[in-house]
Amino acid sequence: MPTHFPDFNHVLAAAARIAAHALVTPVLQSRVLDELAGAQLSFKAEHLQRVGAFKFRGACNAVWALDAQQATRGVVTHSSGNHGAALALAARTRGIACHVVVPHGAVAAKVASIQRQGAVLHGCEANIAAREQACAALERETGAVMVHPYTDPRVIAGQGTAVLELCNSHGPFDTVVVPVGGGGLAAGTAIALAGAAPGCRLVLAEPVGAADTARSLAAGQRLVEFVPDTVCDGLRGTLGEVNFAILRAAGAEVVTVDDAATVAAMRLLWQVTKQVVEPSAAIALAAVLARPDGFRGQRVGIVLSGGNVDIDALPWAVG
Ligand SMILES: Cc1ncc(COP(=O)(O)O)c(C=O)c1O
Repeated sequence: MPTHFPDFNHVLAAAARIAAHALVTPVLQSRVLDELAGAQLSFKAEHLQRVGAFKFRGACNAVWALDAQQATRGVVTHSSGNHGAALALAARTRGIACHVVVPHGAVAAKVASIQRQGAVLHGCEANIAAREQACAALERETGAVMVHPYTDPRVIAGQGTAVLELCNSHGPFDTVVVPVGGGGLAAGTAIALAGAAPGCRLVLAEPVGAADTARSLAAGQRLVEFVPDTVCDGLRGTLGEVNFAILRAAGAEVVTVDDAATVAAMRLLWQVTKQVVEPSAAIALAAVLARPDGFRGQRVGIVLSGGNVDIDALPWAVG
């Protein structure tokens, strides 16, 4: 895996590279939500991206950045959901193989989606060490190129293209809000903002039950020992090292949100905008509604990061 820090030129290159494959997603606005928030909100609808999440941007950039010789060996990753499906589809656009290591207990709808995109699935225990070991073994056995879900610089640069598009089409913004799990979207957004909208505030929305980014940025060092406990299945990953460094340098702020507020925001988005978004996406609106004083009167860009929810187990309909 390349080890350099991506910069704004990498985000611009990613935008050009993925243009033939990724969708330019729409931006949604709602007077009702603006009134509730006391702010002017613009939602980047990445749940309408291919495979239903922004993850296709980074995966697609990584796959199409491979040289011809690397590409023949295929790609490998670990994922409990959206990144796996995104990498599988990206690999398919280039006609190459894709292996995805899936931890036991992953959301069934997401596993089915990875499979539908044509990946070869490999099960493993649900912890980061087991996931990485399984990927390393597959790299050795098949020669496939590892595409990490959030530390790979090609992935980070690709994720940055969502907010680049948002700024270009609906900016300027006072603040941009994105969810944070491992920090691929957050780091890519920080880099995109530094180039396209310097001075724009970056706020990360993180579940109380997986608040390693909030803790790490407050402490000035990466603190990632925790057992995630959140309905936001896309945000259970641990903050990557490179991601931490980029977010710290960017002065990103974090708002932690409890699951009840996230589920309420998800229900609100479904009801008002008629958009099917998942908890890991709705948390960004929940963060704005949780801290009205922090956003009042501002122009706020929000990434609705994905829509892959199990519609047989809606969080307001069970328990
Ligand atoms: C819908 C959704 N939102 C946000 C994230 C968080 O992305 P990252 O791990 O790059 O922080 C994920 C990651 O899986 C996701 O699937």
